[in-house]
Amino acid sequence: MRILGINALFHDPAAALVIDGRTVAAAEEERFSRRKHGKRPLPFSAWELPEQAAAWCLKRAGLRPQDLDAVAYSFDPALARPADAMGLDDPWDHLRLTYAREAPNFLRTALPGLDPETVRFVPHHMAHAASGAYAAPDADSCSVLVLDGRGERASHLAARRVGGRLEPLRAQDLPHSLGLVYEELTEHLGFLRSSDEFKVMALASHGTPRMLPELRRHVYPTGDGGFHAAGVPWAELCAPRGPDEPWTQDHADVAASAQAVLEETLLDLVRWLHGRTHDTVLTLAGGVALNCVANSRIAREGPFSRVWVQPAAGDAGTALGGALLVSAGAGDAPEPMTGADLGRDWSDAELGAWLKTAAVPCEKPEDIAVTVARTLADNGIVAWFQGRSEYGPRALGHRSLLAHPGHAGNLERLNDVKGREQFRPVAPMVLADRAAEIFDGPLPSPYMLFVHDVAPAWRDRVPAVVHVDGTARIQTVDPERQPLLARMLREFERLTGLPVVVNTSLNTAGRPMVDDPRDALECFGSSPVDLLAIGPYAVRRGALFRTGDGGEEVAR
Ligand SMILES: [Fe+2]
Repeated sequence: MRILGINALFHDPAAALVIDGRTVAAAEEERFSRRKHGKRPLPFSAWELPEQAAAWCLKRAGLRPQDLDAVAYSFDPALARPADAMGLDDPWDHLRLTYAREAPNFLRTALPGLDPETVRFVPHHMAHAASGAYAAPDADSCSVLVLDGRGERASHLAARRVGGRLEPLRAQDLPHSLGLVYEELTEHLGFLRSSDEFKVMALASHGTPRMLPELRRHVYPTGDGGFHAAGVPWAELCAPRGPDEPWTQDHADVAASAQAVLEETLLDLVRWLHGRTHDTVLTLAGGVALNCVANSRIAREGPFSRVWVQPAAGDAGTALGGALLVSAGAGDAPEPMTGADLGRDWSDAELGAWLKTAAVPCEKPEDIAVTVARTLADNGIVAWFQGRSEYGPRALGHRSLLAHPGHAGNLERLNDVKGREQFRPVAPMVLADRAAEIFDGPLPSPYMLFVHDVAPAWRDRVPAVVHVDGTARIQTVDPERQPLLARMLREFERLTGLPVVVNTSLNTAGRPMVDDPRDALECFGSSPVDLLAIGPYAVRRGALFRTGDGGEEVAR
């Protein structure tokens, strides 16, 4: 079966293509449209479809829209209720339902030739659940917890996968929503709602949870697999922060308190689920599952032996989950995900042609991994553009910005390059076989969705990646899966004694991650990066900004 998955309704529009149970392509619309998150998460933008991502998925597989057996749309308007009946203050929510009902016809327009009868509405949280349970490796039988802002009428789903079946066990109805509570706080703290929740998580580590008792009056588990989470009087806890104002200790303390109440509620939900299923594996999905601090606590203190989080855990992942659910429902065996590199790539010849067209001077060294390791060892910053782009919000060694972890000043330097807040950490990538020596936490951790304690003996050796609380959000690199990246890390270790490199996403503030070669050149040209490693080619900053006829440097 050839199934196209579409996420469109709330935020992070994305498309994914699953053929006979195998994921062949998945991409977020923002990487094509160059608008962060694809669109603002507002009711009147609900009609916007991931047109470019969907068209690319089909092109990648050589399919036409009429060749599809089904399109999975990750929202079922038949399950929804009016916003006021669900206790939500969202007067334009009815637009979402109107647009969702019309999605089959909109999709026919976006993908000429598509039969609108092939479009299936998939319950939003079943799509999230499938994106975890069917994509997880070695998880034919597993529990799954969806932790979201909202779906049709609920905000959470506890479910169980047994083979090709996904059985819902418990859902928490709106207005109670851990995701919406966290979003409210994001807005109260002057950040962008439905976008910057990870900044609240980062700020939390600068505070103490002194407002936890007050928060527990509004956010608490109900003991039956559900929870109460609504009506938090944020303004009584701390003054709101304007977007350009400095944060205060009160802001950090309320963030720490919200993080703590989230974690203890999640632990209760996880224990309830384990009590029902007694599974060993838990998979997580939904926007809240991008909270790597909470994930780590679930892994450390929860009853499951293994916790796996799908890298596109937010709404983008429902494109993949919807397609996997329809595929499994049709009898195909879902194949587990082997990596997040499901997006676009270019051949060496195509990359060479891009550089030639842009008249960019470049080298083709014997091994780009060695060239990069040397530049990093000399404390240069490297833009790393290799292979297929990532599905999900994290750079995982395909569209990354790399630096030396041994210089504490590189945190500030990278935050300056990217134009982002100084309280935010940067993260390390580490060779998988060296991770346990340096980082204490769930291993392997290929998708940067857990935090690890940095061993005291290593904190002074890799200061740029150690957060204020002594942790790091690591990516482990498996040499079999990512040989080029592993070779670069080994060479860097040979030169410096450190099997760790700083890895952050290749973008500048407010822009989506770099996806195509033009994005890479534009990002490189506009930020103080020393080397662009694009496929086998090395573009050096010095060479780029010299004139051709005398070698005079014109910009540095
Ligand atoms: Fe969602």
